[in-house]
Amino acid sequence: MDAFIIEGGHPLRGTVEVRGAKNAALPMMAAALLLDEGKLVLRRVPNLADIKSMANVLQELGVRIDRRGDEMTLQVVSDKNCRASYELVSKMRASVCVLGPLVGKRRRAEVSMPGGCSIGDRPIDLHLKGLAALGASVAVERGYVIASARRLAGGTMYLGGPMGSTVTGTENVMMAAVLAPGTTIIECAACEPEVQEVAKLLVKMGALIDGIGSPRLTITGVKKLHGCTFDIIPDRIEAGTFMAAAAMTGGDVSIEKCNPDHLMCVTECMRQAGAIIETGPDWIRVRGNGMFHPVNVATLPYPGFPTDMQAQFMALMTRGEAISIVTERIYPERFHHVREFGRMGANIVREGPSAIVIGVKELSGAPVMASDLRAAAGLLVAALAARGETVLQRIYHLDRGYDQIEKRLESLGARIRRSDLKPEAAPLREAV
Ligand code: EPZ
Repeated sequence: MDAFIIEGGHPLRGTVEVRGAKNAALPMMAAALLLDEGKLVLRRVPNLADIKSMANVLQELGVRIDRRGDEMTLQVVSDKNCRASYELVSKMRASVCVLGPLVGKRRRAEVSMPGGCSIGDRPIDLHLKGLAALGASVAVERGYVIASARRLAGGTMYLGGPMGSTVTGTENVMMAAVLAPGTTIIECAACEPEVQEVAKLLVKMGALIDGIGSPRLTITGVKKLHGCTFDIIPDRIEAGTFMAAAAMTGGDVSIEKCNPDHLMCVTECMRQAGAIIETGPDWIRVRGNGMFHPVNVATLPYPGFPTDMQAQFMALMTRGEAISIVTERIYPERFHHVREFGRMGANIVREGPSAIVIGVKELSGAPVMASDLRAAAGLLVAALAARGETVLQRIYHLDRGYDQIEKRLESLGARIRRSDLKPEAAPLREAV
């Protein structure tokens, strides 16, 4: 099982380029299912395990995929199969994004219920509510969502749930509605940059969507969609992760080819914590001294503090002079990294949907275990600044969302290497 061996205490210095956004690329790949003819060409597609998983699901559904560097060409060659199997969907939750375009284009979908994951319960009731509002009949049978519609018609729906808007739910319903005759209104639509970009892609393919970037989307159904070429936005969470690593190690890093507008809340909180941050049109320069003022954050839908940056920001708060409170309003259970931070000497107390972080002077390297993609990112940030060696296990989680992260960190001066850790070589503990 692969692990990262990290020797902490080396300030990161230099420049790093941000890759295309995973959470934009995944739904955009699914949008290829809506094509009538022609090809969808996506540029700046990151080279990640999750992208490969989505490609496998789409190939099972009759989409031919060719990849050259960071350019991906998708074309529908058969529309016969409408079933996305458990074997493939269970590998990656975002595969649920094929549900909407399958219903929208083929009027039928059989998609395995996506697996849960360690960040907490991840229902799709709002996805199904939206499809039903368009006239689809939706049922869950033997672990599969079975959705079908002789014909779809535009409908009005409120798509918010107890935790607010839904990112992939909005994307799914949008992709089902663009070919539905009539007008669809989605109230409480998610406004994340990735959702906005999916809408812009659909418009470039010929869809009619108003209100992009607002919580109310108005979609007028069209007869068909055509291919196009589309550039994927930079990954704001990858950029934020590099920002945290630069500040945590007391370094000086310029993060390039990113979009600072997508990171205003993260930048604000890091500045409050004491990091020195300058921004330009497509770059962010971060300097830090490795010790931080306390900052209370609560994760919220965009433009609030992103839940996908919660673990990385908590890493910063572990090193400081006082107490800060980190509250999870999107996934209240998204705290598996707290115990692992504790193994590194952090002093954190869980209290309901919050973590109370009492700053310590220093973290110490330790064997720690990743439980999910962003917990792994938070532990990596902490390990880069901890005194001594950290063995970060189960780094397959990281490979899902970060392309060759160890090589890019090494180029900034980190002492990190990937190791094929033999189970007996490390004190593995029970799975999270
Ligand atoms: C997307 O997941 C992202 N994934 C997640 O990133 C991200 O953490 C999340 O949005 C929140 O920003 C992709 O885009 C592929 P939601 P998604 O539906 O769409 C509840 C990463 O690390 N909810 O916006 O699955 C849900 O339980 C991943 O890159 C319902 O109640 O998240 C949660 O509390 C992790 N019913 C909240 O809404 C539903 O039908 C937000 O979930 C759907 C969601």
